[in-house]
Amino acid sequence: MDEVVVRRRADGATELRVNGVFVMDDLETSSERVLADHVLAGGAREVLVGGLGLGFTARALLDGGARRVVVAELHPEVVAAVAEGAGAGPFDDPRLEVVVGDVRDVVAAQEPASLDAICLDVDNGPDFLVHPANAALYEDTAIADCVRALRPGGQLAVWSMADSADLRAALSRHVTDVAATAVPVRLQGRDEHYWVLSGRVNRPAGGKGAP
Ligand SMILES: C[S@@+](CC[C@H](N)C(=O)[O-])C[C@H]1O[C@@H](n2cnc3c(N)ncnc32)[C@H](O)[C@@H]1O
Repeated sequence: MDEVVVRRRADGATELRVNGVFVMDDLETSSERVLADHVLAGGAREVLVGGLGLGFTARALLDGGARRVVVAELHPEVVAAVAEGAGAGPFDDPRLEVVVGDVRDVVAAQEPASLDAICLDVDNGPDFLVHPANAALYEDTAIADCVRALRPGGQLAVWSMADSADLRAALSRHVTDVAATAVPVRLQGRDEHYWVLSGRVNRPAGGKGAP
């Protein structure tokens, strides 16, 4: 059983930890919002997000005009904390559905070709797992499930602490236009980068497909 803590630190920031491992705080959330902006800029309006966290990706999607946002969150304690106002919460928006569960199961349960984008932000990136079981999320079976749930032209975007050659290679086996986008962030007084790794489902030649 995971130990989930959402707490207010002495510096006033709200912090999420799982099993003692720092997951995120609400001091520097630009990359979580960039994850949303990335798929909105690509035309996405119906989006599934893996990992509610402190809700900044979901909030940016809703503020950016998404029509429907489904968020899969493993830990009910995180959902409860955001509902009580932690991070970007609370949410009172009929376009948002939060499902407690593993994002792999939630993706697998989607209708085929029913989403414009899937945003994954469940760890500190594929090479910095908080939950060892999430390794499978970045492998062929799970990526293929994402592709199945996406419309032609749909986008798969993954937040990562670092660029990942392995994930780019895995994405390239399933999607096109694979890219690693550096997101500048300021961390404890230093200029650093986080990353969004992304790709698109191939449109059939001459096909229409959204977005
Ligand atoms: C880094 S936070 C997400 C941050 C979020 N993008 C935001 O804007 O605040 C990662 C979240 O993913 C959740 N998580 C981890 N593994 C998961 C899984 N397999 N399925 C669903 N949620 C998961 C964690 O509990 C945590 O809330």
